[in-house]
Amino acid sequence: MPKFPLDNSFRFRNQKETMSKIVSVSIEMLLEKLASEAVVLFARRERIHDYLVQWKKTLEKIKAVIEDAEEKQTREESVKMWLYELQNLAYDVEDLLGEFETEALRRKLLLEPAAADHHQPSTSKFPKFIRTWGTNLGLPSIKLDYKVVSKVEEVNARLQDIAMQIQPLDLREKYGGRSKRFRQRRPTTSLVHEAKVYGRSKEREEIVELLLKEDGTSHNNNHFSVVSIIGMGGLGKTTLAQLVYNDSRVQCHFDLKAWTYVSQDFDIIRVTKSILRSVAMGIVDHNDLNLLQWKLKKQLFGKRFLLVLDDVWNENYNDWIDLSRPFQDGAPGSKIIITTRNADAALIMGTVQAYPLKGLSNDDCMCLFTQHSLETRDFSMHQPLKEIGAKIVIKCNGLPLAAKALGCLLHGKYDPSDWESVLNSRIWDLSQGRCDIVHTLALSYHYLSRPLKKCFAYCSLFPKDYEFQEEETIL
Ligand SMILES: Nc1ncnc2c1ncn2[C@@H]1O[C@H](COP(=O)(O)OP(=O)(O)OP(=O)(O)O)[C@@H](O)[C@H]1O
Ligand SMILES: [Mg+2]
Repeated sequence: MPKFPLDNSFRFRNQKETMSKIVSVSIEMLLEKLASEAVVLFARRERIHDYLVQWKKTLEKIKAVIEDAEEKQTREESVKMWLYELQNLAYDVEDLLGEFETEALRRKLLLEPAAADHHQPSTSKFPKFIRTWGTNLGLPSIKLDYKVVSKVEEVNARLQDIAMQIQPLDLREKYGGRSKRFRQRRPTTSLVHEAKVYGRSKEREEIVELLLKEDGTSHNNNHFSVVSIIGMGGLGKTTLAQLVYNDSRVQCHFDLKAWTYVSQDFDIIRVTKSILRSVAMGIVDHNDLNLLQWKLKKQLFGKRFLLVLDDVWNENYNDWIDLSRPFQDGAPGSKIIITTRNADAALIMGTVQAYPLKGLSNDDCMCLFTQHSLETRDFSMHQPLKEIGAKIVIKCNGLPLAAKALGCLLHGKYDPSDWESVLNSRIWDLSQGRCDIVHTLALSYHYLSRPLKKCFAYCSLFPKDYEFQEEETIL
């Protein structure tokens, strides 16, 4: 029997947070299920469709405020209880819809031969029989178990009750469903303090080499090619891109350079404007995309340009095609560097060279950590802290963001007991103050698909390194 050791080093801060994440994913999954053809057809047939339409509307309303509830639950017991009731209800609704699906399937199997006699073409993925059953075939309706009917009514009453509490609990909608937290990442710039960057010389050389290389042929009829730096949040992608961007060989090689912070909110006008501002060094005060693109095209025409698109999340091919229109007429050898956590986004952008970034070496991580904790490059002046410090650095696992964040937490602290407490704490317990790890990595969670979100939230309930059996997992 296969066993899976669990490395859930990054988890939600606590069980409460895990619970609320499961609730919001459950609601999304229920909405999907309510829209499924099998459930809809079954419900119509059984005259419970009106209930389901109402549930969909109510769940949408609840979904809009769930993020606010997630935030308020830590302060307000009543909101915590509300989320708890909601989760229980979500499980019951899921079971009920599952029963509908099973029943629909059972009926299909029971009556399929009859349906096969009606040779009518169907475009639906769901068997035609379910759609026509009981009407075209003149078959008697199989009565819904009264228990199911009363369950539907009970669920309906609970759902309405939960929805009615939204106002008294003062739960509010957040930015059209998107969290403020995810909107507030600070834009990056091309400036870097090189002396405070540790390691990365090999990576820098390799990327500079890729940039200076004359590709010879054009890629997809473009004169530019795309180099993607790919890796998890906080790994140092932006930092590496900054090093490369400011490299003197790169400075000399390209006629024009631009640095643009893209972020999760891909806005073609903002991005185009930002590139144009960099290459034209002028004021760009209008929002006409057509005009902006023509101006940019003119600026790039015949020039060998380097463009950094930092922090790309967008996987929409058409957005990329639209954005890249003005880039087509640059001189051969033009390059675009993108930094992204998302390998699919890199693919969409026609990456010619993917550069998967690895973590820092232990030594470099140590320098980074001591820089931020002790303002030195090692422990020579602080021997009593050396052993604990080394263990904290191992805990960072080569992730610069972690080394920096934990270093900052210990800045100005020289008592070994403070260091011990950081060593023995869980990273997500430390991260509510100055330490920004969870905030940064939570973005990656936000972008997981719904089923993966649920898996992630579920796994985070287990203790770290817990070995579980495949059969034990119930999702
Ligand atoms: N080699 C390094 N030396 C010193 N500090 C570093 C190094 N690499 C990264 N850092 C620091 O670690 C933090 C995270 O790095 P960075 O922003 O480059 O990561 P990232 O991979 O771009 O993350 P994200 O996916 O969130 O954009 C930054 O504060 C940066 O200054
Ligand atoms: Mg970055």
